[in-house]
Amino acid sequence: MVLTMAAITLMPLLVTLLAAPATAAAAPVRRCPTSCGLIDFSYPFGVGPRCSLPGFNLTCDANGRLLLGSPSVTVDYTILASGFISSLAVNIVRTVRMGPRAGVGTVSASWDGPGRPFAISGTSNMSLFVLGCGVTATLLDRGAAVGNCSVACAGEEVMRRLPDGLCVGVGCCRINVRVHLRAFTVNLSRTGDGVSRDKLTFFVTGQGRYTFRPSDLERDIHPDMVPPARLDWAIPGQPDCRHAMDDRVTYACVSNQSECRDSPIGGYACHCSRGFSGNPYAVDGCVPDQVYGSIQPKANCPTMCGNVSVPFPFGTELGCFARIHLYLTCNPGRSPAILQMTQHSYPSTRAC
Ligand SMILES: *[C@@H]1O[C@H](CO)[C@@H](O)[C@H](O)[C@H]1NC(C)=O
Ligand SMILES: *[C@@H]1O[C@H](CO)[C@@H](O)[C@H](O)[C@H]1NC(C)=O
Ligand SMILES: *[C@@H]1O[C@H](CO)[C@@H](O)[C@H](O)[C@H]1NC(C)=O
Ligand SMILES: *[C@@H]1O[C@H](CO)[C@@H](O)[C@H](O)[C@H]1NC(C)=O
Ligand SMILES: *[C@@H]1O[C@H](CO)[C@@H](O)[C@H](O)[C@H]1NC(C)=O
Ligand SMILES: *[C@@H]1O[C@H](CO)[C@@H](O)[C@H](O)[C@H]1NC(C)=O
Repeated sequence: MVLTMAAITLMPLLVTLLAAPATAAAAPVRRCPTSCGLIDFSYPFGVGPRCSLPGFNLTCDANGRLLLGSPSVTVDYTILASGFISSLAVNIVRTVRMGPRAGVGTVSASWDGPGRPFAISGTSNMSLFVLGCGVTATLLDRGAAVGNCSVACAGEEVMRRLPDGLCVGVGCCRINVRVHLRAFTVNLSRTGDGVSRDKLTFFVTGQGRYTFRPSDLERDIHPDMVPPARLDWAIPGQPDCRHAMDDRVTYACVSNQSECRDSPIGGYACHCSRGFSGNPYAVDGCVPDQVYGSIQPKANCPTMCGNVSVPFPFGTELGCFARIHLYLTCNPGRSPAILQMTQHSYPSTRAC
C-alpha cells in the first residue's frame, strides 16, 4: 500500500468514481510532479492535466515559481499538516501613488484571489497593514466596507524619533481581517491631516508578523520584504460536509479513514482520522501513524541527498517516508548536502 502517492496517480475524481470501484486502482498510472523548486505539494493540488481537482491547478514556471489559479498568485510555500497542505503562503502587497490634496477623489486598489477554493480566513489572524501619510483606508469585500483605518504623519524630524513596532495610526495603521476574503478592494482617500506623502503601500500578513519601522516609509516595500499572508482553502461546490457526502460522485474525502469537516471559509476539508496521517484526498492516502516498516515507499523515491544516503523509512518526498516525523528536507545546494527534519511548514525558497 503506497503511502500517499495514489493521490497523484488518480484520474479526476469524477471519472474515477463514476466508474466501477475496482477501476480506481486500474486507472492509468500517471506520474504527476509533486514539487516545484523547493516547494512540495500533493493532491488535490497538482501540476498538469488530470493531476489536480478543478481549481487546484498549479503551474511551475521556468524560474521555479509555483503559480496558482486565475488570476494567478505566486505561492511562496505550503504549510503542511500531517503531510498534506493545510494552507498556502502568498504575497499580497500593493503600492499606489496619490496626490497630496484632500477631497480629490478616492484611489482604489484590488487584490483578486486565485479562485473559489481559496480565501484569507477571517479566523486566521491576518491584518491589512497600510503604510503612508494622510489617508483613510477602507477595506471592502464585494463593495461593502468591512473595516477602515487612518494614518497621519508628522515631519521627518519627529517621525525619525518614533519607536519601532507601533502601528497605531502614525505612518502605519492596520485593519484586522475578520471576514473571509476571496478578493478585496482598498479605497484610499486623503484626510488632509498632517504631512502627506504620495506613496502608499498596503499588504496583508499575520497580525504579529510585521514590525513597523518609521524608516519603512522611506523605502520601497518589495513583496519579499514582508511575511506572506496565509491563504486557506477548502473543497468548494457544496456548502458543508452533509451536502458533500450526499454527492458521492464529487465527494473528495476518498481515503479510508478520512473524515470530512466543515470549513470555516465555506465548503469542506478532509482529514485523516485520529491515529492516521497522510493524504485524505487520495485513495488509501490515510495510513496508520504507528505502522512502521510494513509500508512500501512509492516507486523512484530519491535515496540520496547529495552524497548522503537516505534509506526508507526516512524519505525526502511525500510517499517516501513511513511516518511523518521521518520526513526529511534535503538541501543538496550546499556542500556537504544538508538534511533537516521537515517542519510542518516549509521554509520559503527565499529563506534557503
Ligand atoms: C493548468 O494551468 C495551466 C496554466 O495556468 C494551463 O496551461 C493548463 O492547461 C491548466 N490545466 C488544467 C488541467 O486546467
Ligand atoms: C470606493 O471607491 C470607488 C471608486 O474608486 C467608489 O466607487 C466606491 O463607492 C468607494 N466605496 C466606498 C465604500 O467608499
Ligand atoms: C489567532 O489568535 C488567537 C489568539 O491569539 C489564537 O488563539 C488562534 O489560534 C490564532 N489563530 C490562528 C489560525 O493562528
Ligand atoms: C470606519 O469604521 C467605523 C466603524 O467601524 C465607522 O463608524 C466609520 O464611519 C468608518 N469611517 C470611514 C471613513 O468610513
Ligand atoms: C477500505 O474500507 C473498506 C470498508 O471498510 C474495506 O472493504 C477496504 O478493504 C478498505 N480498503 C483498504 C485499502 O484498507
Ligand atoms: C560528502 O561530501 C562532503 C564534501 O563534499 C565530504 O566532506 C563528506 O565526507 C562526504 N560524505 C560521504 C558520506 O561521502
